[in-house]
Amino acid sequence: MRIAVIPGDGIGVEVTAEAVNVLRRVADVFGRQIDLETLPWGADHYLKTGVTIPPNGYAMLREFDAVFIGALGDPRVPDNRHARDILLGTRFELDLYVNYRPVQLLDDRLCPLKNRTTADVDFVVFRENTEGLYVGIGGRFKAGTDDEVAVQQEMNTYKGVHRIIRHAFEFARATGRRKVCMADKSNAMTDGHALWQRVFKELAPQYPDVEARHLYIDALALLMVQDPSQFEVIVTNNLFGDIITDLGAALQGGLGVAPSGNLHPGRTSMFEPVHGSAPPLAGKNVANPVGAILSAALMLDYLGLKHEAAAIEAAVKESVVTGNTTSDIGGKLGTRETGDYIAKAIHQT
Ligand code: NAD
Ligand code: IPM
Ligand code: MN
Repeated sequence: MRIAVIPGDGIGVEVTAEAVNVLRRVADVFGRQIDLETLPWGADHYLKTGVTIPPNGYAMLREFDAVFIGALGDPRVPDNRHARDILLGTRFELDLYVNYRPVQLLDDRLCPLKNRTTADVDFVVFRENTEGLYVGIGGRFKAGTDDEVAVQQEMNTYKGVHRIIRHAFEFARATGRRKVCMADKSNAMTDGHALWQRVFKELAPQYPDVEARHLYIDALALLMVQDPSQFEVIVTNNLFGDIITDLGAALQGGLGVAPSGNLHPGRTSMFEPVHGSAPPLAGKNVANPVGAILSAALMLDYLGLKHEAAAIEAAVKESVVTGNTTSDIGGKLGTRETGDYIAKAIHQT
């Protein structure tokens, strides 16, 4: 198994080191060969060479079984050009249309909501990952003047909307979940989101075993806080999915613990924590590596190593429940010590 590893910037480097530490331990314990090949792409590399991603970069990534990314973003690159090429570029060029972001509370004490338990926060968000407001279609006219006009277009295609909503229903059916909620803003975005309405109404009847519900995205944000227990599978567009998965991360203990997968089922896919490079935390050994480590578990699960993935999840849970964590979720350990604790807690299941 060959994995491309792009640690990236800031705490991305530190949390990736711990995900790698855990993957090596899994390889040992389970007797697996997992080759991890580090690619240096990130802000430093860009500032040194002027190259964000080499011309054959996406083709290189496609040759791996999976790609792991830490985080990208650096104040020295204010236009975020390298993150656009490396992170968004990988999502687009590898056509990773499913952004899979499970929101699962691992311990009651991590939930910021009163009287909520692990039973109340356990849902999955499917964020459309290849179109919407992220396609970079737009422009600025008279930039920098008082007459500036800035246009950023949202692109919704039948194919794009169809494949992500279908994926949400198929996932619900395959995993025994009974509810899919589609969230859009079709009351205001009467063209782009009319397409989401049309496709949802077209697909829902094909899944009579699954309850299909629609919410406007603002109402969804409200209900995620008021009563997250009502959600099992949520599907939404690229930007709304970005925002509500930070909200989802808050429900499960913060950005430090939220994992994600960027998938094109059957093809080389990419895995990364939901959080960014957190420049104020970088280099201090304080960042929580759990989001990255759980992303590595999602990766192994996607690659068919179910027991290995479950062993990582169990080890993370043990560290969280026993308080052997970083300070953002109440522990006293550093990034490295948390990674070590989790690695040592990996056992054959
Ligand atoms: P961020 O996710 O880096 O940080 C948001 C907040 O969460 C901060 O308070 C931070 O300290 C905290 N946090 C994040 N990860 C943590 C962890 N592992 N442990 C403990 N606390 C953690 O988001 P931001 O500050 O909005 O963005 C910083 C940079 O990261 C920007 O350049 C942004 O574009 C980039 N970014 C990249 C990704 C990615 O690569 N996938 C995701 C989000 C943001
Ligand atoms: C995420 C991030 C990215 C996004 C940024 C860094 C472009 O916030 O993966 O959630 O908006 O997709
Ligand atoms: Mn985000």
